Amino acid sequence: MINIVIFGPPGAGKGTQSELLLKKYDLVHISTGDLFRANIKNGTELGMKAKAIIDRGELVPDEITVDMLRQKVEENPSANGFIFDGFPRTSPQAEALDKLLSENRTSITSCLSMSVPEDELVSRLLNRGKTSGRADDTNEDVIRNRLGVYHRETAPLKDFYQQQGKLSEVDGVGTIDEIFNRLCGAIEQYA
Ligand code: AP5
Ligand code: MG
Repeated sequence: MINIVIFGPPGAGKGTQSELLLKKYDLVHISTGDLFRANIKNGTELGMKAKAIIDRGELVPDEITVDMLRQKVEENPSANGFIFDGFPRTSPQAEALDKLLSENRTSITSCLSMSVPEDELVSRLLNRGKTSGRADDTNEDVIRNRLGVYHRETAPLKDFYQQQGKLSEVDGVGTIDEIFNRLCGAIEQYA
């Protein structure tokens, strides 16, 4: 199995690159952000709990997020592997993911961390906000808050994967194809 964590700040291109990687390596893509947005759209109880938090650019509590992720992994018992996009975002989430995978007799293959300068991230997200309908993309203060949360709570997880010898840093600036080729090169070092 190949299990990839695609890692990086809001707007780094995690979703864009996941779509290409899942085809090449035949993986199941799990984006916790997409799952929350689907729940919001369908008006579920989970969606109602998450909406105000997401619209402010804060993190949904770990317990809710981990349960949702676990359910999605368990729905796919015969997957070739997974791409985890936007998860983990906190230390408890990273530990829960390792535990969940080890219960399923597998583990993370590598964490691909995409780096993009902050100004580029803000401009990508504001640009997407013109058409995405995502409330968290239309307001620059919310975007800056998401970036602050990323630096405080999520970026430290790079150390978690570095200590396991699983971190690859990839330059996230360039064309989509260039970045895809960098990511594939990084995966092939581990697979
Ligand atoms: P989530 O949906 O994960 O959003 P995010 O991390 O803010 O990241 P984005 O999806 O905005 O960016 P991306 O890296 O996927 O980039 P993309 O490919 O779209 O989370 C949303 C919210 O849900 C969170 O704030 C939180 O509230 C909650 N949540 C989610 N997971 C959670 C968790 N685990 N725990 C707690 N709460 C959680 O690209 C961005 C834009 O750039 C696009 O328009 C794209 O076309 C463009 N682009 C992509 N690549 C390039 C390129 N190479 N050059 C130029 N433009 C590019
Ligand atoms: Mg995304």
